[in-house]
Amino acid sequence: MDDRWISVQAVAPPDAWDAVATVLIEYGCTGVELREAPPRVVGYLPDEQAHQLEAIQERLALLPQFGLPAVLELRVEPVQAHEWQRAWRRYFRSRRYGNCLRVQPSWSRRKPQPDEIVMVLDPGLAFGTGNHPTTALCLSLLEKYVQPGLRVADIGTGTGILAIAAAKLGAGEVIAVDNDSLAVLVARGNVERNGVQDRVWVIEGDGWHALHGVFDVILCNILSGFLVQTAPLVPRFLREGGVYIVSGFIGRNAREVFHAMENAGLKREEVHKRRSWVAAVFRKN
Ligand SMILES: C[S@@+](CC[C@H](N)C(=O)[O-])C[C@H]1O[C@@H](n2cnc3c(N)ncnc32)[C@H](O)[C@@H]1O
Repeated sequence: MDDRWISVQAVAPPDAWDAVATVLIEYGCTGVELREAPPRVVGYLPDEQAHQLEAIQERLALLPQFGLPAVLELRVEPVQAHEWQRAWRRYFRSRRYGNCLRVQPSWSRRKPQPDEIVMVLDPGLAFGTGNHPTTALCLSLLEKYVQPGLRVADIGTGTGILAIAAAKLGAGEVIAVDNDSLAVLVARGNVERNGVQDRVWVIEGDGWHALHGVFDVILCNILSGFLVQTAPLVPRFLREGGVYIVSGFIGRNAREVFHAMENAGLKREEVHKRRSWVAAVFRKN
């Protein structure tokens, strides 16, 4: 695999960070980090996506038109994959989510509390450490909706974080799908690391097309365009009373996502926000 990457560093005040991160991810960055001194968002773009740099620059230049602070400087530098992996390690720390879920980097020596359900992750180059607000929101919702024995699907599993959390919360079977072969490798490694390989199946495939049968809970933390486009497929894969937990979009796109779900016959149960990111739960009645 080609391990050449481009780091795209957008120096901007924190009020612009969510919008900058959204642009970087929309245009092909596989991961983003938030850094201080100077405040900046750093995205990692695979070398073969270098043609997206112009579009990234153009989109970032539009931020002031939406009332957001301007990007003060855009630095673009080549990096090797192993440098990026080291960077992840600096920013990925052991953290607790909801009432009892703890996400712990594989290199952390921290001792878990007796009441904690611990997931040990090595993110490699995949998305999903819990640091991103969308993952954090989904983890908290999982605690509420996953009951022992349920059948769960996780579309766009990244590191496998949500699928592993579902299994550790007692799900009987979890189907985790990602269309990125690298993420699939990372997720399979994490599934084994957490000893849930008897319940979690990681499949390389395109979203909903990789699923069979019906599920009690379906998770999808992908961008709003994907959620809107695939909304009509959801009821086919949810059992009566089942829930669809979605995130990956910002407040500005929430209405479009809600509208698509309601058009598909799903009832909105609850909505949560962290910084400008949104997560929502829909039920099939
Ligand atoms: C924002 S990350 C979410 C990762 C993890 N579930 C979390 O919540 O942190 C989105 C993931 O969806 C995957 N993805 C994007 N489009 C997809 C598609 N059409 N089918 C399957 N996976 C997809 C990406 O490769 C990426 O790993």
